[in-house]
Amino acid sequence: MSGRLAPEPVPRRDFLGMAGLVSAGVAIFGSILGMARLPKPRVLPEASSRFRAGHPAEFPPGTVKIISHRNVRILSTEDGIAAMSLICTHLGCVVTETPDGFQCPCHGSRFDTEGKVKQGPAPRALVWLSVTRAADGALVVDTAREAPPNQYFKV
Ligand code: FES
Repeated sequence: MSGRLAPEPVPRRDFLGMAGLVSAGVAIFGSILGMARLPKPRVLPEASSRFRAGHPAEFPPGTVKIISHRNVRILSTEDGIAAMSLICTHLGCVVTETPDGFQCPCHGSRFDTEGKVKQGPAPRALVWLSVTRAADGALVVDTAREAPPNQYFKV
């Protein structure tokens, strides 16, 4: 008995057909949505290895400045300005400064004030970094370009 209050049941074959259509529609819609998102890269761009450290006037001889968000130590002497990475050459921890150099908190490597290894397991000295000047005179440090140890940029 069917009526307005008791609608006729949907036959099983029709129900399965409708369920199949809905499933196919959802799958097609999901595929189109996925393809529409493909052209837009979902990775964050890596920060540039070059950064402006400041103007030379900010580094009078005898000053040391730690650029903590770049893990770089900038040292100014009468010979010029140099930059050294504070990344341990063992497994990449950030070294901390001690009275006689640097120490790595992860596995205990120790470095002298010039970054040379005093105690392993670090396989090599801390890396000195390239320092150049931008067109406006600001100092630019490139964390991807190694410089010879004790190379000071004349300002
Ligand atoms: S990461 Fe520095 S000693 Fe291992």
